[in-house]
Amino acid sequence: MTATIIDGNALSKKLRAEVATRAAALTARGHQPGLAVVLVGDNPASEVYVRNKIKACEDNGLYSSYDRYPASLSEADLLKRIDELNRDPKINGILVQLPLPKHIDSHKVIEAIAPEKDVDGFHVANAGALMTGQPLFRPCTPYGVMKMFEEYKIPLEGASAVVIGRSNIVGKPMALLLLEKGATVTICHSKTRDLAKHTRDADIVVAAVGKRNVLTADMIKPGATVIDVGMNRDDNGKLCGDVDFAGLKDVAGFITPVPGGVGPMTITMLLVNTIEAAERAAAA
Ligand code: GUN
Repeated sequence: MTATIIDGNALSKKLRAEVATRAAALTARGHQPGLAVVLVGDNPASEVYVRNKIKACEDNGLYSSYDRYPASLSEADLLKRIDELNRDPKINGILVQLPLPKHIDSHKVIEAIAPEKDVDGFHVANAGALMTGQPLFRPCTPYGVMKMFEEYKIPLEGASAVVIGRSNIVGKPMALLLLEKGATVTICHSKTRDLAKHTRDADIVVAAVGKRNVLTADMIKPGATVIDVGMNRDDNGKLCGDVDFAGLKDVAGFITPVPGGVGPMTITMLLVNTIEAAERAAAA
């Protein structure tokens, strides 16, 4: 079997065109949607992500502000800036890029963001709303994965899904979104005893670990859908995901590539969440 490649670039392009239309409509009514991006420190990967997020805003008619601080920024000063952004009517979404330097408590920072501007969906109020089935914002990466399932008509109801990784950003919300759609969900992680035992029975495997080759061809059922959330570098410095794409593409039914899979979708869903926040603010 040769897998269908799930094209995150093509789907992003389509969804971003819808974002641009909604942004233009809001702007015409005097409510241009605005995203505030905050980066602390000089993590090179974070710099690339942040640059791409700002460019995506510019390309689709959203206003963006960018605060770039040295790693020495104090927690108090960061909290002060978030408070200003919470009150700024031009700003509908606030994104503080993670990870933060060690001396800053990221939990405290996330909790300082007004829930109605928390376009990452990381605030406990938003995590709780998602858990109880009334999400205000779905975290961008798992939300993007759900859009891929929808676009490629991959059935979720009754499907057996394995999520590898239990982070607050991807693994846990991914599991909740799959559960909401009627999948039977297993969350595996670094302490799981026999990963292959779980993945071999799965119709869908989502890998979100941050480590290469956690999933190989012998670990899945023929025809399974494989979603790769990983962003790693191989020995030659080339971008690669968490799964062995070369081996899996001959066994899977659907598979996402890296790059060009989940990555662009994460940014697209950030734009979607920001538009939704702006539409709510405009209607208030
Ligand atoms: N760092 C890695 N992924 C993310 C994300 O989705 N949002 C934020 N704020 N930081 C991240």
